[in-house]
Amino acid sequence: MALERLIIKDFRNLAEGDLSFSEGFNFLVGANGSGKTSVLEAIHFLGHGRSFRSHLTKRVIRHDQPALYVHGRIAQSGQQALPTGISKSRDGETEVKIGGQGNQKVAQLAQILPMQLITPEGFELLTGGPKFRRAFIDWGVFHQHPEFYAAWSRLKRLNKQRNAQLRVAQDYRQVAYWDAELAMLTDKIDEWRRDYIEAVSARAQSLCSEFLPEHQIRLSYYRGWDRETPIQQLLADNFERDRQLGYTVSGAHKADLRVKVGTIPVEDVLSRGQLKLMVCALRLAQGLHLTEQTGKQCLYLIDDFASELDSQKRGLLSRCLTQTGAQVFISAINAAQIDEMSNENGKMFYVENGKITAG
Ligand SMILES: Nc1ncnc2c1ncn2[C@@H]1O[C@H](COP(=O)(O)OP(=O)(O)O)[C@@H](O)[C@H]1O
Ligand SMILES: [Mg+2]
Repeated sequence: MALERLIIKDFRNLAEGDLSFSEGFNFLVGANGSGKTSVLEAIHFLGHGRSFRSHLTKRVIRHDQPALYVHGRIAQSGQQALPTGISKSRDGETEVKIGGQGNQKVAQLAQILPMQLITPEGFELLTGGPKFRRAFIDWGVFHQHPEFYAAWSRLKRLNKQRNAQLRVAQDYRQVAYWDAELAMLTDKIDEWRRDYIEAVSARAQSLCSEFLPEHQIRLSYYRGWDRETPIQQLLADNFERDRQLGYTVSGAHKADLRVKVGTIPVEDVLSRGQLKLMVCALRLAQGLHLTEQTGKQCLYLIDDFASELDSQKRGLLSRCLTQTGAQVFISAINAAQIDEMSNENGKMFYVENGKITAG
């Protein structure tokens, strides 16, 4: 699966663009502020219905324009290309189209077009809060279990309702009502997550040692509460504490992925450059695992990254990406930075002042 064609309208400084991509590597080259990240952001928007740079759509819509529009054609092996599109207007209206049908859901876009984003800020996966690592785990679970999305959305809603109830409850019986379903969903999600991390760990660890041969990295999954107690019992046991705090302290919403070198958290051992390499290795491992498990390919969006790696690591990253057979989008300030990454089916795009020309 690859994005064959992308049509952009009024997205950041890109007034309009119509791009035909290679199924292999696509390079976006241009000066600072030319619009390279915006192209990656538009692709990401098509797969997530939101930006990775701003949660405010009005920042992303081109100045003085009423709406943005991104349309893609997704090649599917043995089938006709699938048209997908999303538009968002300044007044908050969203329209998602898939295969010519309107009123579709953003989650369906994500299902169709799995992608991994690697940016210079991406090391927050390792140094930021647990939510970044939960998103990492859930990316894998989402693409592996079609039921995950509904279960996770329902669990979030139940948690909200439970928290609201906690603030007025006098007695556990007033909250217990929510807990049976909450516990059932929590166990399901916990099982998916644990299985996923177990399955992806070996590959992630071996890729990490290819990228950082001097360190032995270990991943372990934390489910969000202690290992011994069943969640339903824990919810009952912790009622008084949760009631005083006004929210549910333990549960799947606290899950995390612990990443260590030996027994020490990675951020205490690795340099920023090394952390970035590790993020690359982890994201590659996810993409490879997805393809192995589901036959789906994932797209890689790599922003300004070549500039942060020495040429040996650039070469390594490029070889790994080529091996995955995935479609890759890489931005860089100049062509020299991506020399080691070019390959025969690569395609160049030059970005200048919001205009994109194929090279
Ligand atoms: N909503 C918007 N409308 C028009 N221009 C924008 C908008 N948001 C950002 N820009 C401008 O778009 C330009 C391109 O940004 P960006 O894609 O980050 O460039 P690059 O990645 O090539 O350095 C910047 O000059 C920025 O000021
Ligand atoms: Mg940029």
